Amino acid sequence: MFEAIAVTLCCGIATAPLFAQPIPQAIANPNAWPAQAAPIKPDPAMERRIDALIARMSLEQKVGQVIQADVGSVTPQDVRRYHLGSVLNGGNSTPTGKYNAPAGEWLKAADAFYAASMAPDGNLPRIPIIWGSDAVHGHNNIVGATLFPHNIGLGAARDPELMRRIGEVTAIEMRTTGLDWTFAPTLAIVRDDRWGRTYEGFGETPEIATSYAAPLIEGLQGRIGDKDWLRGPHIIATAKHFLGDGGTTGGKDQGDTRIAENGLRDLFSPPYLPAIKAGVQSIMVSFSSWNGAKMHGNGSLLNGVVKGRWNFDGFLVGDWNGHGQVEGCTVTNCVPSIVAGLDMYMAPDSWKGLYKSTLAAARDGKLPMDRLEDAVRRILRVKMRAGLFEAGKPSSRPYAGEFQQLGSPEHRAIAREAVRKSLVLLKNADRILPLDPRANILVAGDGADSMTKQTGGWTLSWQGTGTKRSDFPNAQTIWEGIAQEVDASGGHATLSPDGSYSTKPDVAIVVFGENPYAEFQGDRADVGYDDERSLKLLRSLQADGIPTVSVFLSGRPMWANPFLNASRAFVAAWLPGSEGGGVADLLFGKAQFTGKLPYSWPKASDQTALNIGDKGYDPLFAYGFGLTTNEPGDLATLPEDRASPAQADDNILFGSGRFGNGRQLLIGAPGALATNPGPTLITVERTDRNAQEDSLRLRWTGAARAAAAIVQEESRDLTRQANGDLALELDLKVNAAPTAAVSLSMNCGEQCTNGVPLQTALTAIKKTDQWARIAIPLSCFAEAGVDLSHVDQPLMLTTNGQLDISLSSVRIAPPSGTQLSCH
Ligand code: BGC
Ligand code: BGC
Repeated sequence: MFEAIAVTLCCGIATAPLFAQPIPQAIANPNAWPAQAAPIKPDPAMERRIDALIARMSLEQKVGQVIQADVGSVTPQDVRRYHLGSVLNGGNSTPTGKYNAPAGEWLKAADAFYAASMAPDGNLPRIPIIWGSDAVHGHNNIVGATLFPHNIGLGAARDPELMRRIGEVTAIEMRTTGLDWTFAPTLAIVRDDRWGRTYEGFGETPEIATSYAAPLIEGLQGRIGDKDWLRGPHIIATAKHFLGDGGTTGGKDQGDTRIAENGLRDLFSPPYLPAIKAGVQSIMVSFSSWNGAKMHGNGSLLNGVVKGRWNFDGFLVGDWNGHGQVEGCTVTNCVPSIVAGLDMYMAPDSWKGLYKSTLAAARDGKLPMDRLEDAVRRILRVKMRAGLFEAGKPSSRPYAGEFQQLGSPEHRAIAREAVRKSLVLLKNADRILPLDPRANILVAGDGADSMTKQTGGWTLSWQGTGTKRSDFPNAQTIWEGIAQEVDASGGHATLSPDGSYSTKPDVAIVVFGENPYAEFQGDRADVGYDDERSLKLLRSLQADGIPTVSVFLSGRPMWANPFLNASRAFVAAWLPGSEGGGVADLLFGKAQFTGKLPYSWPKASDQTALNIGDKGYDPLFAYGFGLTTNEPGDLATLPEDRASPAQADDNILFGSGRFGNGRQLLIGAPGALATNPGPTLITVERTDRNAQEDSLRLRWTGAARAAAAIVQEESRDLTRQANGDLALELDLKVNAAPTAAVSLSMNCGEQCTNGVPLQTALTAIKKTDQWARIAIPLSCFAEAGVDLSHVDQPLMLTTNGQLDISLSSVRIAPPSGTQLSCH
């Protein structure tokens, strides 16, 4: 079916109608886009060298070159055998399988993959591999690295020159571990703050990203024409995710951006022009769609605009199995993507099947040879420009193994400066800030001494969760930064996360905010911030006559009126990274607040797509707002009524990998449940069902009686739901049948005798080896003696024996699955 198409490399308009499917508005007219000349003149000697290589390469090598596999699913032997052109480490992949693999292991693995790519193989030419990694706020996969504020905070800094220095530091820290290429910067323009990647964008308008793209890319890559461009202290950068990633309807990750062509062009594409001009060598194609057609298949934009109109001569890399979402494709078979202009598939775990099908398509001509060779040429060009053919093994390259560079004092000083520039002061009643560091200061809130909350997603793990303080040797929590400055000034600071105190403090700094998340796991139904615990804390301090200074950690602007009312001062601190001291610098007046909002701040929790320039624009704080401590910062009391949260949400106790508002999973001995008591009784792992990590795998070891429970902050009255015949519904798979009785209950204490027996049902499900849905009428729990008027543990599974299940959803709903009886 593809032979009939004329593949034009410059302007794939001819290919588009076939692959973009019959949605006419999803086909761009490249001539309507601004033209840009290539920033680098073609180098005839290099092109001849590439010609010579391509002439000697086997077909297998050409196909391998355009495939990138994840280090969690590929070995150096595989790289050698399948001639793979690239590897990446996804957010959860490391060379050892442990999230906190030491830097030395990364370098060792880089050497091993390089060696595999260079090992002699008959007469075939040797092509060095390149390793890509998400160094998106510093080299954030590595223990000890300098962690910069996420892009949302950098956007508030409005300081392009600072981006250059951040790029330089990130590149050097990557170099220490032998990695070649970062999947950054993200140039998304974020239009709906429900999106789980809002914090990865610099702002809601093209202006900030457009002013940052070139300096950041030059910081990472060096300057075109300089001797150390892409080498020495530099690495290769990626502009991502092309195009319209931040414009999807409802802020849905991997969603659909519905907009006319001129809107797509004028709103979302501007930062790509300076990025390409500054020499960015790769562009990552977005998971998302434009007017219903997946970007990974859109020839009019990939071939037509990027390569044709903008003369981009680097390569287009796909996103994590993103090609598999194109109509007519699977993750292991997708010729349309490469025909549309993709040059390198990101095929983390699907690489082998994809290699086979792509090879077959190249053999029988379904994949036109000139397109395949063009993709290979582009990849080889970048590798040559980066000097990889001559660089030798990664550990022999500049900065390799210099692990003292990771989180060095010089690097951290730049991160601290970035923190100082990124915080936005929203309220400062009675000019309470700056604080006197000689005072008696209470430091409260669950974010005060939490590396995970201040660093956010994409930090040692994909979601930024599951880490411990000792994983951050070169870092300071906000509390630690405050304590240091207060101690040095002769004041007195006390850490008290729950806000209790013995001597009444002069002032309380309360640090709270969102828990870490990444990608679709961060998508929300609205932008209301719900956190009863922190609100109570602020209010009780206020009632005791203690002035409160709120430091709010979040990946997006959020409706937080009750919190603003309960605070004398309120600072939007975003996700500041490793340098808590930078927060202290501002609170104590060692530096002035200069940060300006990169996103409009909502007046209501349902103002989710609030952007400057909107008709009837009515924010609480406008784009660009930010106080200094030299001006009055009082704020009238704000209305506190929250627009009702999407109703369904409250009934989803666990779904799409998330626990709804204020819920969490606790495990352990009944009566002593904890977030992470160690693996003795139960182990918990994330696992995949329909999407990455959308499910949980729970394994009871059988060592002693143990329970797993979903616990919510605020108890709920479920009597109405029980009367309405609703059920507790679970989607689950049984990996190993229970060896003893299992009880399912709600609100169960130490004895936990009021449960519904599950052993028989689970054993039956195990026999099918399929995902199953079971529904337990809420009335069963009432019958068993559970008080449904105050439910704070809506699910608790307890057994003395062994059991291994995967759980993808828990909700309160009209029963749709197999209904269990109460006994
Ligand atoms: C993300 C990219 C990232 C890639 C590799 C994808 O899911 O969308 O931003 O670079 O994974 O980790
Ligand atoms: C990977 C991420 C990737 C994501 C895509 C995760 O398993 O670790 O790097 O971005 O999947 O959905």
